[in-house]
Amino acid sequence: MSARIATLISGRGSNFLAIDDACRDGRLDAEVVLVLSNRPDAGGLQAARERRIPVAVVDHDDYAVRSDFDRAVGEVLERVAPDWVVLAGFMRVLGADLVERWAGRMLNIHPSLLPRYPGLDTHAKALAAGDQEHGATVHFVTPELDAGPIITQVRVPVLPDDTAATLSQRVLACEHALYVDALAQCLATSGAPLANPVD
Ligand code: GRF
Repeated sequence: MSARIATLISGRGSNFLAIDDACRDGRLDAEVVLVLSNRPDAGGLQAARERRIPVAVVDHDDYAVRSDFDRAVGEVLERVAPDWVVLAGFMRVLGADLVERWAGRMLNIHPSLLPRYPGLDTHAKALAAGDQEHGATVHFVTPELDAGPIITQVRVPVLPDDTAATLSQRVLACEHALYVDALAQCLATSGAPLANPVD
């Protein structure tokens, strides 16, 4: 029985598309059963519709209270009953209740070598710090932002003439394979946090 993956996106959804490609070509024994976005205009929603993947929009602008937004997202997830909840370019911070409901089954990709640079603007921060390398991390989601157990990381060189845009493009190109690899590891280990994160 293929694992059921619900993806949460806020934009173009390139990480979701990479995961769905891997499901379709057999690299992942899984199926993307939902694409949910907090933004009605997210480009990834149209791509999901074209792939005949069920979509849902829970527009964060419709909820004055974050916990109401989380509850609405949680209700959609309960109906879909995924095995994995994959945050892929999802730009909302989810509250502890929802995160703990999916503990060990909710993943996120973050464009830095965590624990370096949690939060936003990671590429600019790496450049400002003069880092020689940067990268991306897939981790289990916990209530503390960008701080859950690391599943895997990819290192990307910083080039002398890099801008935040060129660096983010190089990192994003590596994220897609990284997320597929992270999910393959999770599917193989049925989601138990890995003892030693891959360096
Ligand atoms: C990616 O850089 C990801 O690391 C960050 O959001 C960006 C956009 O991802 N979380 P996607 O193209 O929408 O999957």
